[in-house]
Amino acid sequence: MKNKTIVLLLAASGAVFSPLSFGQQRAAGPIVVQGAMPVEAERFAQRLENPREEQVGGWRFWHGTVDGYPVVVSETLKGMSNAAAATAIAATRFHPVAIINQGTAGGHDPALKVYDIVLGKYSVNLGAFKTPAKAQGEGSDSRQWRPMDLLASKGSAGEDKNAHSIRQFPADGPLLAIAESVKGRYKQGRVVEGVIGSADVWNSELDRIRYFRDSYHTSVEEMETASAAQIAAAFNIPFVGIRVLSNNITNQGKYDPQTGLACQDYVYQVVKAYVARAAAK
Ligand code: 5AD
Repeated sequence: MKNKTIVLLLAASGAVFSPLSFGQQRAAGPIVVQGAMPVEAERFAQRLENPREEQVGGWRFWHGTVDGYPVVVSETLKGMSNAAAATAIAATRFHPVAIINQGTAGGHDPALKVYDIVLGKYSVNLGAFKTPAKAQGEGSDSRQWRPMDLLASKGSAGEDKNAHSIRQFPADGPLLAIAESVKGRYKQGRVVEGVIGSADVWNSELDRIRYFRDSYHTSVEEMETASAAQIAAAFNIPFVGIRVLSNNITNQGKYDPQTGLACQDYVYQVVKAYVARAAAK
């Protein structure tokens, strides 16, 4: 009965940290910061205290600390499969207390400019659809495709009616709140909450982008977040996606790879805020 009370109190205070938090007898797991490309990960890795590089299969991980707290920077490589594998490796080997997937993205929302940052309140997989049946010569119209929720059932999605609403992978509430809390420090653009759409596709058709935005409320698209979020959820690890616009063809926003550095600087502030809260507990 006593144990139950303690657990309820922790939940009420919105704690994301394990009960054995920073500074107590047993070390807490690290925060994992993911970036797909070198330009999205190396800057953060360089800021780690006492860094040590580890190679696992095709993936690089840098272990170190931020303000004394363990942090692992993970270069996931590009795309959904790479992101899923890197997340599963991190989950099973390092037992993280939180995973932050961050990097560049392309705008779906014309109100967002290159260098603006989207804190993903949830992400969706923009690569999982079922097409209607069409005969030879009837063509193809991607706007008629219906989303296919790959987690909806163990059977064939064709038979399950619930399988045709898009799966949302939500951010962890307290983690999102910490990401929000450092908003005021970012001077290179705006920071907003939004929806991140992911697929192994780079969309440059404005009608298709508009369709995604109208149907699934996407703010940006990229190629990793929904995949990493799905795997983090399977391991019950608090997760948030944080993406900077490196391009936005809906408002002629020209591609700028330097935005990837700005995003890492923002996420560094998020990690520092997380660590400060963990230390205060
Ligand atoms: N569409 C898809 N992926 C994008 N990325 C940046 N902008 C876009 C975009 N408009 C990111 C992906 C991937 C790499 C190609 O850059 O996440 O890692």
